[in-house]
Amino acid sequence: MQLGYGKLILFGEHFVVYGLPGIASAIGLYTRCRLYPNEKGITVNDRLTNKHILVGKGNSDILEQTMQIILKETALEKKNFRLEIDGNIPIFGGLGSSAALIVSIARELNREFLLNLSDKKINEIAFKAEHVFHSAPSGIDNTVSTFGGLVWFEKNLHGGKNKMEQLKMKKPLLVVIGNTRIIHDTGEAVKFVRAQKEKQPKKFEQIFGQAKELAHEAKKELIAGNGKKVGELLNKNQGLLKQVGVSSKELELLCETALGAGALGAKLTGAGMGGCMFALAKNAEQQKKIAREFEKEGFGSYITKVGV
Ligand code: PMV
Repeated sequence: MQLGYGKLILFGEHFVVYGLPGIASAIGLYTRCRLYPNEKGITVNDRLTNKHILVGKGNSDILEQTMQIILKETALEKKNFRLEIDGNIPIFGGLGSSAALIVSIARELNREFLLNLSDKKINEIAFKAEHVFHSAPSGIDNTVSTFGGLVWFEKNLHGGKNKMEQLKMKKPLLVVIGNTRIIHDTGEAVKFVRAQKEKQPKKFEQIFGQAKELAHEAKKELIAGNGKKVGELLNKNQGLLKQVGVSSKELELLCETALGAGALGAKLTGAGMGGCMFALAKNAEQQKKIAREFEKEGFGSYITKVGV
């Protein structure tokens, strides 16, 4: 059995698609894949999405397309096996569930068939298969899911190697994830941002400039373990995402609730327009308080750390 971890984008979602820097961290939520023998063909039972497929039956389901890419990359099309998928990551919620799914499958096939795939290759497969979920992925999700830890990421817009740097923090940050439980479509959100950018190029140029500066400042403060400053920068990043148009009333309510409970900062994470946000807490007690406040408002909550 192999796991693929979810992620939180701390800074720079959406902006990373355009080559600006992003900072993301792996989290304890995961997708799990286990392989069993099968008499004939390849079947996949995904308990997270409740999808059960016999691969190669010609449907255009995203799970089928994902499997086609992974099988082609690993040259395992002719094998017989059954994959059972489960886990605890909310799906289509901004926590990188699609990248986690692909990584867990690729790692399980690697283990079972002794493919000796490097992390670099797993990451490449995950990036290719991420295109099934949205047509222009930046690569940040698959990178974090494959390599783990806290990652600085810059997409190479000319098709060359992306910039990836693993950051070390003095102490981990305590966060609470709030889940609107509204499923979002990452591809649609990315398309929406592109359309807005085309309509208002001046406004976006300004926002992009601020986003870049913010990410560089955040990198410094994260490494120094300066929670108070990181919190302020998270709030600023949320302000930019709101201007871009990917926040929502539920996400705003979650951010306000967290800040009202004393959080150092709060912002949406991932594509937005539903999905999840997270708040940075001062201590473990406050973490629990924020989680309780989220639940009181009818939202989901999950307590975790980043940068461990
Ligand atoms: O919502 P998620 O987990 O798919 O995150 C998407 C992050 C974006 O920056 C919006 C897109 C991308 O490919 O980086």
